[in-house]
Order: sequence, then structure tokens, then C-alpha cells
Amino acid sequence: EDGGPQPEKHCGHGRGGMGEDVKRKEDQRFITGRGNYVDDIKKPDMLHCEIVRSPHAHARIENIDKSRALDVDGVVAVLTADDLREYDLATMPTLMADTQDVLVNDKVKFQSQEVAAVIATDRYTAKDGAQKVVVDYDVLEPVVDAEASLEDDAPLIRDDIEDKEDNHCLDWETGDEEATAEAFEEADVTVTEDMLYQRLHPAPIETCGAVGDYDPGKDKLTVHMTSQAPHIHRTLFAQVSGIPEHKIRIVSPDVGGGFGNKVPIYPGYVVAAAASYVLEQPVKWVEERSENIQSTGFARDYDMTGELAATDDGEILAVRTDVLADHGAYNAVAQPSKFPAGFFNIFTGSYDIDTAYGSLTAAYTNTAPGGVAYRCSFRVTEAVYLIERMVKVLADELGMDPAEIRRKNFIQPEQFPYESSTGWNYDSGDYEGALDKALEMADYDHYREEQQRRIDEDADKLLGIGISSFTEVVGAGPGKTCDIAGVEMFDSAEIRVHPTGNATVRVGVQTQGQGHETTFAQIVAEELGMDVEDITVEHGDTDTDPYGLGTYGSRSTPVAGAAAAVASRKVREKAKAIAANELEAAEEDITWDRESGEFHVAGAPDRSVTITEIAAGAYMNHPSSEEPGLEAVNYYDPPEMTYPFGSYIVIVEVDRETGEVEFEKFVAVDDCGNRINPMIIEGQIHGGLAQGIGTAMLEHVTFDDNGNVTGGDFMNYLLPTSMEIPNFETGHTVTPSPHHPIGAKGVGESPTVGSPPAIVNAVVDAMSHAGITHVEMPMTPDTVWAKLDEAGLAT
Ligand code: CDP
Repeated sequence: EDGGPQPEKHCGHGRGGMGEDVKRKEDQRFITGRGNYVDDIKKPDMLHCEIVRSPHAHARIENIDKSRALDVDGVVAVLTADDLREYDLATMPTLMADTQDVLVNDKVKFQSQEVAAVIATDRYTAKDGAQKVVVDYDVLEPVVDAEASLEDDAPLIRDDIEDKEDNHCLDWETGDEEATAEAFEEADVTVTEDMLYQRLHPAPIETCGAVGDYDPGKDKLTVHMTSQAPHIHRTLFAQVSGIPEHKIRIVSPDVGGGFGNKVPIYPGYVVAAAASYVLEQPVKWVEERSENIQSTGFARDYDMTGELAATDDGEILAVRTDVLADHGAYNAVAQPSKFPAGFFNIFTGSYDIDTAYGSLTAAYTNTAPGGVAYRCSFRVTEAVYLIERMVKVLADELGMDPAEIRRKNFIQPEQFPYESSTGWNYDSGDYEGALDKALEMADYDHYREEQQRRIDEDADKLLGIGISSFTEVVGAGPGKTCDIAGVEMFDSAEIRVHPTGNATVRVGVQTQGQGHETTFAQIVAEELGMDVEDITVEHGDTDTDPYGLGTYGSRSTPVAGAAAAVASRKVREKAKAIAANELEAAEEDITWDRESGEFHVAGAPDRSVTITEIAAGAYMNHPSSEEPGLEAVNYYDPPEMTYPFGSYIVIVEVDRETGEVEFEKFVAVDDCGNRINPMIIEGQIHGGLAQGIGTAMLEHVTFDDNGNVTGGDFMNYLLPTSMEIPNFETGHTVTPSPHHPIGAKGVGESPTVGSPPAIVNAVVDAMSHAGITHVEMPMTPDTVWAKLDEAGLAT
């Protein structure tokens, strides 16, 4: 009725509504050690599970001898695929409807695949038992490289798929191939670049784990698990196990980071649940770090070729890309099911490009399955990397300033809503506004002069300036196009206002550290005129929360945040009827004032009631026209996704002697529409930028020719620490989403998506005067030094 919260309007009501830096409610328990994670759960008679994993990447299992393990004092059971088959649990569907072995049925397809499970009275005994399971393997030749796996003589990985004769997984294309080819033929200039978005691993502090707890008395299976999506996991558990869904309860307690890693269902979850069902005792499984890196969902692994066609003066006419994707041993990518390449279609980026064409081939390899959306909305990270890298390549080819070429090609504010040439509907944006702000914050002109000075003076350290003006796409659904395992991607919120004026809000999404207990409370506080301290947010329990599709792809704010606002407004409508009763006025004369949060009689502001008084009225003096009580639920199917954006500018020094890269300046300007909690957003940006630095500089899961994971632990898979992280200078602009009830877009993944191309562009920029067009990630000193050497710049 009042147009919703206004951009940048800090409520300042002192109630902790939209735009206020409310301190995170959940931090009280986290920083005092009172968090409750899966591994904190202890049950009477609880058993422990250890998984026996294959040391080989490709091998047929000839025999499994359990006897020595069963002799270990305290070992209760050893499960293999044969045991699970009795319960029809030997295989499970992946999110992309492939069939994955829970425990290897016949042939191992990647190193560290789950072969057997040892259940024992404590974790140490389970581990001892696991070492005594004797598995005879017939070792086969592995193939861990997507290109090699598509060659005619490559060993066949998926002989479990009927009539399968090669390792081809799927093909995908988007856009207009012919029109794009024509544009390339007619263009003044074309550029092309090959780039690998290397295999990464989302590395949450907490690894994956579960406590299966079957209660034969109630005939109910409770699974506490590290889940970003408890409801969809319950549905999948029901489908796989045959246990009716109402007899399953999934609880995702505190989750120590997810980043997409906790979206798929892993064999360990199924084994813990199945073992507790069979043994009628709770069974805990918690993986170790190397198990997490080596066997759970990886991210990226897109080998991309990018091409741009342009006019002499830098107008981009067309973009084309071809991708070879490594999907690992099973097609277990975590994408909405109709999007085999996720939202990679958005590779036209922030630019008004008439024609585009993208094609992709995916291959099976003897590597862990995955392709999860690591702090990203389904492959948008790869798409942003492609276009933002290519714009820099084109700028260098034309001798144009990379800021100028972006400005020339941006979609303009008046073009929104904008349909891209691959058919995506951008809601709103002001890309030039964000870039201008970032350029100013970065003191761009000064650094360009400094860069030239260093070149002229043959300085030991070169300066590079990288820009990324990215557009994201977050908030999947709508349900008609987006589903996970057939379930439409809506989300939900339920609000119960209690008689004494406080409220419980339950949402279908699940926090993993993003501060949902605070920000959802802020949305409801804003919409109902309540104090944020009077609102408790609950999530992660399928027995009590409304059904939702979970948290990944920054969908919480765009979808469940919208549901919380709409449910609040439903409560507000009913509150009006109760206010009318309390104030002895007609309902149509009651208005709500966002500023004071009070309901009053139109034209008589002194005749007013607060939500607390209304709550009392709802239970103690309800009008005869209404049911007692004050609550509402909303299942929100978004009409469209939201398109947050930003401009990042990274300035680096590159040491010509060592190839070392140091950050001189790191500016990040983000626009996520209306902001709920600026302090939380700032934290999200800092964390995401750190992960972007890890991607660009350090992280890569690698394999040797025998299929051994050579980057499978934190000694070899390097995460950024405070030593590698520079000071960030953050800024923002506000362009509300026109279709979102509170004008908000997501923000959590923007920095991870937007920063890697800015960092690579900066390092390339330090050498582009000498003809360097690309440096592959991770840009370790030796990689950078080799490029310096190639360009004749190394000293
Ligand atoms: O789905 P996920 O929570 O990972 O991502 P998000 O929706 O982008 O939200 C991340 C955090 O930032 C949440 O606590 C949001 O409420 C907060 N946020 C905000 O304060 N204002 C926005 N416009 C967007 C997100």
C-alpha cells in the first residue's frame, strides 16, 4: 500500500528493519561455542560409520572380504553394495537423473569412490575396521582428462549404461549459430582466446556428515545432515528408500559453510540412514577433509574458447563460445534439471550484443562427480569469466581502454527490462553508474599514468589494472522453467505472531552462515512494524518448516525473502481487521504507517494501535468476521530471476624477477537492489572476494595419469589465508529489482563470480603492452613468470 521500502531509505525506526546494520543474532551462539553442527549431535547407543574408499580411479572389484574387519572388537557391521541391494539402495539418482552407486556395485569409477562401510561403536574402531576390509581390484586404465576421454580408444567408463560405447555425456547449445557466424564474417575485428576455468572444490570449514536415526517405535527415520536443501533431500530420500515422506524428517542444524558442496546427496548420507534403519541404532558419518575434497561435488572444470566480433571502434557485434565440460564419473551436476549447462547462457554479460551462440560438450572421466554451483548461480561464474576476459582481449586488440570499451557496449538503464540475445530477461541495471563509481574509487587515471611510467622506466615491478563489470542471475525459479528433481523452484515463509506480540518465522531455505536469522527477521520487522529482537527465525527442519528448495545460487533473498515480505503483508491485512475492531472504526479506514509501524484511523493518527496490541486482540478479542490467531504462509514463485551486478577494479604489481603478484588496490562496487543489512552484505562481499582470490591465484584440483588426486588435501589444494587477502574498498549503488516485493536482489555470490576475471585481467594488463593476452588460473608465480618470459619481460 505504501510502495514497499524505498531505496537507501534507512528505516531508522530503531526497530532493525530494512537497511539497518543489525548485529547478527546467530553470532552470540557461534562465538561462544554454542553452535550445534552435525558432528555435535550425540545420541544414546550411537554407532559410527567409516567409509572404505578405492585407492584406484578405475578398477573392477573382484572380491570384498569383510571377515577381518568383523573380527575387530567393536565393529558391528560391514556393508557393501550386496547388502544395500537387499533394500534396493545399491544405487541412487543424482540431481540430473543419472544413477550413481551408493557403494561400488561392480566397477570403481574414480579414486576415493565409496566401496564399503564399516559400522562400529566408536569412530576409531570404525577406522581400524575399515583398514581391515580386504578388497581385490582388477585395475583398469583410467582417463582423467575430458579431451582424452572423448578419443576413440579411451577406456569406457560408464559400462553400466546400456549400449554406451563412449564417454560422451551430453551436448548443449544456445543462441543463433548461423546469425552469429554471419556477424563474425562481416566484422572488422575478431578475437579468440582459450581459457580453462579449472576444477575447484568448494571448501566449507565443516565437511559433510549425517546422523541417521531410525526409530522403530514411531517407524520414523530422522536424518540430521549437512544439507543446503533439507526438503528436497527429504523428497529424494523418500523416493530412493521407499519410506513414505511423512515418515522421514531431515534436520539441517547449524551448517559450517556450504558453497554448493552440500546441495547433492552423497553416499555417506544414504549409508548412515540405511545403517540406522537396518541396525535400529543411530549411526553417525562425518567425512574427513581429504574425503570431502576427493569425493564430493567439485565445481567448474569448463575448458572454454571465447570469440568476439566487433567493429573497428569497439562495438561488440557477436559473441561465440565452445566449451568442453568435465562432469566426472556421473552426471551429478547440481543445476535446475532443464539447464544441463546451468545458467551459462548469460555469457553475453552486461553488454548489448545482438547475436550470440554457445555450444558445449560434456564428458565422463574417472574423476569425482560434480559440477556444483560453488558460490555461484549455476555456471554463471564461468559465463562471467568468459565475457569479462574476452572484453579485455578485444580492448587490447583494438588498443582501447578497457573501461571505455565496456561503457560503449553496456546495456543502458532505459533498455530494462532487457531480453538478451540468448533469451534471458534482465530486470534492472545501471552498469555505467557502478563502473564510474569504481573508477573513481580506484583513482583509475592516476594508476594508468603510473603504469605507463613503469613501462617507460623499465621498472622491476609492472603495474596491471583489471576491470570486471559483471552481471549475475540469481533467485531461481520461476517454477515453470526451474526445478530440482522435478520439484518447482519456489520458496516459502510462514509467520506466526504470538499473543504477547512477538513472532516466529519459518523459512524453506537453510542458512550456512549468511546471517538468515537476522536478515529474515529484518524483513518481517520492516513489513510489520515489529522490533527485530521480537522475531525468531527457524529453518532446516522438515517437520516444522514450510517446503522450500533450499539455499544456493543466492536464491534466499530473491525467493524466500520475497515470501517473507508477502507473508508479512498477509499478516498486515488481517491485522487491519483486528485494528478496526480495536479502534472501533471501519476496516477500510485503517492505514498502516511504515515509519511508526502503527495502524491508525485515516486522518486521526492519534487513534492508533501497535502490532503488539493487535496480536493481543487476535487471540483475546478477535473480531467475529475473522478467525482467531495471527499468522500467514506464503509460497513464492518468482516471476523472474533478479540480476545483481557490479564493477570490480583490481590493481596489481607483477614482479618481473619472481612472477609474484601483489595487490595494490582492490575496489568492489556492488548493486544488489535494496539492501536489507549493509553490514552483512559487506561481510558477504569480503568472504566472496577472498574465494575469488583463491580461484584466481591458488586453487586447482589436479590428477596424475593414474587417476590419483594430486590436489586432494589442504597441503596441495591451497586456500587463501589472511596473508593473501588485501584490504578491500567496497562501494555500492542501488538499483531495485522492479518485480521483487522489497526490491532486493541476491548478493552472496557476486564477489566470487565477479572477481576472478578482474584479477586475471589485471595480471594480463601488466603484460599486455608486450603482447600477452591470457594467463591461466591459478596464477601461481611460476605460471606468471613463464608469461613474463614469453613476453621478454622477465628479469
Ligand atoms: O541465498 P544466500 O543467503 O546465500 O544469498 P543472498 O540471498 O544473496 O543473501 C546473503 C545474505 O545477504 C543474507 O543474509 C541476505 O539477507 C543478505 N542480503 C541483504 O542484506 N540484502 C540484499 N539485497 C541481499 C542479501
